[in-house]
Amino acid sequence: MNAQSVGCPVSHQFDPLDLRDPFPLLAQARTEEPIFYNAAIDYWIITRHEDVKAVFRDHETFTAANTITPIEPFSAEVQQMLAAGNYTPVPVLSNNVPPDHTRIRKLVNKLFLPRRMRHFEPAIRALARERIGALMDEGNRADIVAALTYDFPAHVLFHVLGVPDEDVPQVKAWSDNRIELYYGRPTPAEQIERTKGLVPFWHYVVGLVERKIENPTDDLTCDLIRMRNGDDAILTVNEIASCMITLLVAGHETTTAQLTNGLLHWLSDRAQWELLCEQPNLIPNAVEEMMRYDPSVCTWRRYVDKDVIIDDVEIPKGANLLLMLNAANRDATIFPQPDQIDVTRKNLKEHLALGYGIHYCVGAPLARLEMKVLFEEMTRLLPSLRLLPEQSLNYTRNISFRGPTQLDVVWDGIAQS
Ligand code: HEM
Repeated sequence: MNAQSVGCPVSHQFDPLDLRDPFPLLAQARTEEPIFYNAAIDYWIITRHEDVKAVFRDHETFTAANTITPIEPFSAEVQQMLAAGNYTPVPVLSNNVPPDHTRIRKLVNKLFLPRRMRHFEPAIRALARERIGALMDEGNRADIVAALTYDFPAHVLFHVLGVPDEDVPQVKAWSDNRIELYYGRPTPAEQIERTKGLVPFWHYVVGLVERKIENPTDDLTCDLIRMRNGDDAILTVNEIASCMITLLVAGHETTTAQLTNGLLHWLSDRAQWELLCEQPNLIPNAVEEMMRYDPSVCTWRRYVDKDVIIDDVEIPKGANLLLMLNAANRDATIFPQPDQIDVTRKNLKEHLALGYGIHYCVGAPLARLEMKVLFEEMTRLLPSLRLLPEQSLNYTRNISFRGPTQLDVVWDGIAQS
């Protein structure tokens, strides 16, 4: 059965930009119509774990060339604005293909080695304590996104990349803007408006790299510059700036949403939260289970480079695939009782929330470390944390990044003597 099957309920109801509660329909798709075509965005939708993993594994048939392609193609006016603004990033990681991807990825891998990340752990923990302390000083109620999860990952990332901390609000705004431009469906007027934010973001990054070349410091950006060693055959300066803009988007929006998804689900199930407070050694497992249960990068893309058949469905060369990581992660053939949170699952790390294969998330060691540290500190300092009842959650309309934009929480205040 495929997308064109008349009257098939799943493909007719599916709205790829509506991330409010995709799980029931995806569960139906996995059993009734695991691969279907969606005309609204011209993508084939893949839902089963086995199929998603097979696509990730075969990077020659299914390339990553379309992962940063705007869902709504750029208008002529927008293209002209980008050309006039000298907007010149090149594919380096997410949307690059071998052999160039292999060359660049080998270098960037070295930046995020778990050993190098551990060096940053004390600073990440100090930041977590400081932010939670400030939250507690302000009262006993907050929107935890605005107060903590929105910018905590950016402050961590800026620290490791050596980007000025005071630039966090501006870069966050530019990144939000970029996500809506590439992964949402802006109107022509919105597209123009958002493009106005793209050009200064690029020039900011280029300026940052130029300054670091002049005045090297002890951070990952300078590690990359040092690896280049002035040799364009190793890495060009434009490629370094392109890596930086990629990291300055991929390295915090993802983690912001994942932290918020985690808090939402743990606090929704008091027993799970209390378990983590009592046994913080379970937190690394809990982080994996959250990525499985509600991955912040809920879908990712691939481009079909030759005619293929997946599960009896013929897909032509030139087609685009939307890999439903959120559906694959709840495939009962891999994860029994997939709709239940269970931090003791034996095969937790088989989730696909961080991708698989040659493009597997290069920032995974940093993401895991900062989520672990923040949750360790939250369960320790705020064990009474709970959700404000009866709140409705809002999710930005886009195809790939899922996390509530606001999450109201309360906790017990410090008893007054
Ligand atoms: C919980 C947080 C995160 C999630 C859920 C996440 C998820 C993902 C996913 C699904 C991919 C695509 C993998 C594939 O195509 O096989 C990816 C790639 C990538 N991620 Fe992450 N990510 C997270 C955090 C980070 C962080 C902290 C950084 C940087 C510091 C980062 C940088 C990247 C980059 C550069 C790529 C492209 C790698 C390549 O194509 O070789 N991510 N991530």
